[in-house]
Amino acid sequence: MADQSPMPESQQLSKAAEQVLAAFQKAVPRVKPLLCFAPGRVNLLGAHLDYNGGDVLPVAVDQGVYVAAAMRSDARVSVCSLNEQARFDCDIDELASLAANRLGWAAYPIGVFLVMSKKVEMHQGVDLWFAGDVPIGAGLSSSAALELATAFALNELYQIGFDRVELARIAHQAENEYVGLDCGIMDQFASALAASGGALLLHCRDGSFEQVPIAADQVEILVMNSLKQRSLGETGFNDRVRECAGALRVLQEECGHRAFLCDYQQQDLESVAGKLDPVAHKRARHVILEMQRVQKGVQSLRSGDLSRFGEAVNASHRSTAVDYEVSCPELDVLTESASSLPTVFGSRLTGAGFGGCAIALVKPGCSSEVSEVVAESFRCRFGVEPAFYVLRSGLGMRRIS
Ligand code: GLA
Repeated sequence: MADQSPMPESQQLSKAAEQVLAAFQKAVPRVKPLLCFAPGRVNLLGAHLDYNGGDVLPVAVDQGVYVAAAMRSDARVSVCSLNEQARFDCDIDELASLAANRLGWAAYPIGVFLVMSKKVEMHQGVDLWFAGDVPIGAGLSSSAALELATAFALNELYQIGFDRVELARIAHQAENEYVGLDCGIMDQFASALAASGGALLLHCRDGSFEQVPIAADQVEILVMNSLKQRSLGETGFNDRVRECAGALRVLQEECGHRAFLCDYQQQDLESVAGKLDPVAHKRARHVILEMQRVQKGVQSLRSGDLSRFGEAVNASHRSTAVDYEVSCPELDVLTESASSLPTVFGSRLTGAGFGGCAIALVKPGCSSEVSEVVAESFRCRFGVEPAFYVLRSGLGMRRIS
């Protein structure tokens, strides 16, 4: 069982934590709530590999979602989001009959509650109040942060004893079933399991993982937010999942059955070229070559060769843009402008794409200079000021107080 004990509290509560505690205490004055946190993430390499059984390399950010939570004396579940300025409550008995597509943002916490309550008895009601400081819809996994904050708090309040991996799987199932996104496990595992000071190398075929340290004196991770918001359910995300499943079926028929698209090699793909439609062929080429990039990239990272790692990161962006077609002009300008600088090892979109954020791996101390140059190119092209943030890698979900 993974460690579930409270992490040492950081020196000062963040603004979002203070806000959610104050709002909770005003609404439910007699109860001292539990305060928990789950982070968002960036992904260094391994774009769209998680649902193809590949390896991914996320890093948790130190921004995420806070939840103030307490048991109720009745049998209602009440959830409130300060970011969305919305509240939803309902009798536990009626939850299962609610149409998930009418819940809006509440589908995330309610989905987690429902998945969990199918595994263990949860008859007593609960209050869950949320506030996040991770940008929403920006590719930093605010959704997984919301799900894992919920899962972690419920696990503590109901004293269930699920370990971190089980909680990540519950959150993932909730996103698939109640939000309707056919995503892989990366975001939920990153939010649940990340350790400070490095990336999580997650083998999505079986959920095994290892930590890969990243020396802070070798590289800074600069997050560049295009401010182009998107909701993944409204993008081509689920189409990409379907296109990959189609390519996998052809490869399985023609080259022998393997479980995942990431299990095939380039020569397999070449041998079925005439049988795959051109779009499926491009998607599969991205997946197969991206898997190789992650494997080589991890070796470079482990040996401290940031230049080679950066080359893999640049190639990953090109492939997600050209073969996977999930980039957009905003993300291309951010990454091209960053990667043209001598102080940048590499740059790529992070998360699903379609908008949101990109990252640049920058020589230590050079992030402000890089931000200025990239902001100038972005302003000239789009007339908008992007946002920048030097990532401090954070811990996975935890109890704050
Ligand atoms: C989103 C999904 C993840 C993953 C990434 C792309 O963040 O939630 O499961 O597929 O996109 O790598």
